[in-house]
Amino acid sequence: MSAISLSAVTKRFGDAAAVDGVSLEIAAGEFVALLGASGCGKTTLLRLIAGFDTLTSGWIRFDGVPMAGEGRHVAPEDRNVGIVFQSYALWPHMNVAENVGYPLRVRGIRGAAKADQVAEALAAVDLSGFENRRPADLSGGQRQRVALARCLAMDPAVVLLDEPLANLDVNLRASMEDTFKEFHERTKATMVYVTHDQTEAMAMADRVAVMEAGKVLQVSDPVALYGEPASEAVARFVGNGSVVQCRVVGPAASGKARVALFDHEADVRAAPATLAPSGASARLCLRPEHLGLSDGEGFAARVVKSTFKGSHALLEVAPEAAPREILPVWAPRLVPAGTSVTIRVQDGWLLPGVAASVSAARAA
Ligand SMILES: Nc1ncnc2c1ncn2[C@@H]1O[C@H](COP(=O)(O)OP(=O)(O)O)[C@@H](O)[C@H]1O
Ligand SMILES: [Mg+2]
Repeated sequence: MSAISLSAVTKRFGDAAAVDGVSLEIAAGEFVALLGASGCGKTTLLRLIAGFDTLTSGWIRFDGVPMAGEGRHVAPEDRNVGIVFQSYALWPHMNVAENVGYPLRVRGIRGAAKADQVAEALAAVDLSGFENRRPADLSGGQRQRVALARCLAMDPAVVLLDEPLANLDVNLRASMEDTFKEFHERTKATMVYVTHDQTEAMAMADRVAVMEAGKVLQVSDPVALYGEPASEAVARFVGNGSVVQCRVVGPAASGKARVALFDHEADVRAAPATLAPSGASARLCLRPEHLGLSDGEGFAARVVKSTFKGSHALLEVAPEAAPREILPVWAPRLVPAGTSVTIRVQDGWLLPGVAASVSAARAA
């Protein structure tokens, strides 16, 4: 395993920067997900780490050793990286064992040594006994596991995965998430996993780097990313958070602020450093589980949509005080559209940034 160090990594295609000044330290053996919408530069960044593309500027180092930057470019085959693509990229004319053994053959490993490594890799992805099958005779999930076994057989220091589950159905994806986690625990390889699917990223990664327009917006462990987004963009992208305007009434308990929104007051979480002065307006991230139907305290709202989700219902409500804001709310049961309800704010996260700029404005 290798630590990966990205320093101001930039890749331009003509005038457009596909990757724009990305700096990121990935520890040896860490599992990092690059998460972002289509076109934000994830694949380009992965290709730069693999060595398939050259940098426009910046540096890439593995364990402190320069791989790319300032005219230097170590070839992909000399970086000891394994890559798993969405498309599997298996040879259709080779059987499973030949596909998995192919990179070993290229490296000059043959005979019993090769057979042992192939058998071990296939066992690791639960495909023992499939040696003689052709890719065409496998399901999508099995093909992806062959691709993973091929990567595993090479014993790479770094494993790069580009949306490897995008072609699989939902049920299979969940079991493949377990396969990837086991793969990571077994190999201790440094893994960089590209996805546009936040649940996938949060289920597997030690840390998630959220990307937008070629830049990394935030790098955090999944719990902090979900609970304490650093910006409005991350708050909205992760967990489909709503972001609403509020007014800070004052500090509450430690780590909490009292805020007013929709003619209602509530205590929400806030970073101490970004606690805005009383009276300041701020932005509040609200997730569906932060809100609930109330028999007492709360703000008045009207249900605009109600969807059955099995264990619960997902309501969309419009506050009477701001009918254009549509907020998702988890509820124990369906509530017909048009019903007037009272909504309690049970939790929330006061976004930094806006509060900081209010403080700055006061200081100025
Ligand atoms: N070879 C290329 N030539 C020109 N533009 C490219 C090339 N590869 C990617 N891009 C552009 O760079 C941006 C990022 O692409 P990509 O890294 O594939 O995003 P993602 O993987 O996040 O969907 C996109 O606007 C894409 O059109
Ligand atoms: Mg891509």
